[in-house]
Amino acid sequence: HPLDQLIMALPKTELHLHIEGSLEPEMMFALAQKNGVALPYADVDAVRAAYQFDSLQSFLDLYYAGASVLITEQDFYDLTWAYVLRAHADNIVHTEIFYDPQTHTARGIAFAVPLAGIRRALADALTQFGMTSKLILCFLRHLSEADGFATLEQALPYLSQIDGVGLDSSELGHPPSKFAALFARCAELGLPAVAHAGEEGPAAYIWEALDLLKSTRIDHGVRCTEDAALVARLAADRVPLTVCPLSNLKLCVVDDLAAHNLRTLLNAGLCAMVNSDDPAYFGGYLNTNLLACRAALDLNKAEIVQLILNSFEASWLSAEQKAAWQ
Ligand code: ADE
Ligand code: ZN
Repeated sequence: HPLDQLIMALPKTELHLHIEGSLEPEMMFALAQKNGVALPYADVDAVRAAYQFDSLQSFLDLYYAGASVLITEQDFYDLTWAYVLRAHADNIVHTEIFYDPQTHTARGIAFAVPLAGIRRALADALTQFGMTSKLILCFLRHLSEADGFATLEQALPYLSQIDGVGLDSSELGHPPSKFAALFARCAELGLPAVAHAGEEGPAAYIWEALDLLKSTRIDHGVRCTEDAALVARLAADRVPLTVCPLSNLKLCVVDDLAAHNLRTLLNAGLCAMVNSDDPAYFGGYLNTNLLACRAALDLNKAEIVQLILNSFEASWLSAEQKAAWQ
């Protein structure tokens, strides 16, 4: 399709990417062997065959099991560098990535280890490709707020290396309100917040993320269209929604990409854009997501350009950096 060239050629940002979700089965197997970690799969094909999900939780179970092969600083470097190469191939010029320190500290990995490996790869991305980045520490919402506070305590010596905080993992039953005190403390420390909300959870969780966590963006947010007053609020404040279409399809948030509400979000004046979430698990990186949406929703040129413009607007690049990419 003629617009596919445009999608691939335009400079883009990515704002919703879990680095642990970029762990491809080949690297998972190689690291398991190197580190002596047992995996419940015979080979790479068996891993891929297991990637059939019926909910967010059915994915998270495999995602956390997969992350258990990551042990050393070099492992986190290699993971992140592999993502950087794929992002560069997709013409991503700026990326804001999530990582889940509690997934690693719970296994006895020191707090500093993932941070150092990820940061070193992001520094190399800047020197080799001019690719800029931000790093967002995500708290796991299935754990307690006290566990989140303990993680924040461990992060204190490294705050200069952390650009913001997020909230991810099992959404249903773990509303943003559970973490109001933790996010208030993060705000005092000068850390901007984002939060997953309205992926599987109701529109009420998006209100909580905005009002109780002071979330500057909503990760996913696709269920906002169930509440007209919420859509009006998101539009009036230009609160970005970091939408992840292939993730929504794989986790059965939508039955069919053609039924995705991405166009509805754009038509409502929302600052929505496309992201890959956990590309190794959901079948594609950023361009694959954009190409799939173009085909399934018959997106036109203006809609594609709007999605890309929104990705820059919603990013944490400085006004000068944004202007330079216009
Ligand atoms: N962690 C990794 N991917 C996630 C998603 N899509 N939703 C919530 N938590 C996640
Ligand atoms: Zn996510």
